[in-house]
Amino acid sequence: MTENTVVTLQHPLVKHHLASLRDQQTPPRAFRGQIDRLSTLLAYEATKDLALAPATIETPLGETDGRVLSQRIGIVPILRAGLGMINPVLNLIPDAEVWHLGFYRDENTLQPVEYYKKLPPGDPVDVALILDPMLATGGSAVAAIEAVVNWGVTHVKLLAMIAAPEGVEAVQSRFPQTQLYVCEIDVGLNDQGFIIPGLGDAGDRMFNARAV
Ligand code: PRP
Repeated sequence: MTENTVVTLQHPLVKHHLASLRDQQTPPRAFRGQIDRLSTLLAYEATKDLALAPATIETPLGETDGRVLSQRIGIVPILRAGLGMINPVLNLIPDAEVWHLGFYRDENTLQPVEYYKKLPPGDPVDVALILDPMLATGGSAVAAIEAVVNWGVTHVKLLAMIAAPEGVEAVQSRFPQTQLYVCEIDVGLNDQGFIIPGLGDAGDRMFNARAV
């Protein structure tokens, strides 16, 4: 597998919907729609190398050769904001398994705090698609990748809307074989660990739960 793969999507639809996602005027209902569209586009790109197996298909008019997905695919959303990315990816891969991981970032230390992890003890999926709109310090992503690697998954992909260079570096240095798919890589992090320019707090905006 290629090491240090970072794919930054260049498609005009990605740029268009990402601009709307970033816009502070975009309300939660529209924000969720943009997360949905961008997740589909990210997943399209991130699944280009999935393995296929030959299959014989009976059409109403005869037999033909087809090809079908031949691997077990796991979708691994990081709570909360990764929740909004599940359905669009599941729409593309309806037979995928969904395994949730819960992390929140400690506001002071910026370290990820695990609060939900229920991966099975064995029998790992062949490919894991980890979903989180934001890759900031990379702490949450690294913890999530660690969890799926410890489960036994050998092919790991991370799908994010916006990444900071610090987060990309953190993932690449710790897990060089993880493939990264992002819509854009931003300037960097501010003192509070927020991506600049970013889009603010993805979970708050997605769920209309902005702290007062
Ligand atoms: C945000 C975001 C990522 C994480 C990124 O979640 O959705 O999960 O921070 O930061 P990192 O790369 O520095 O770890 P947050 O911790 O705010 O939790 P939430 O999704 O519940 O809002």
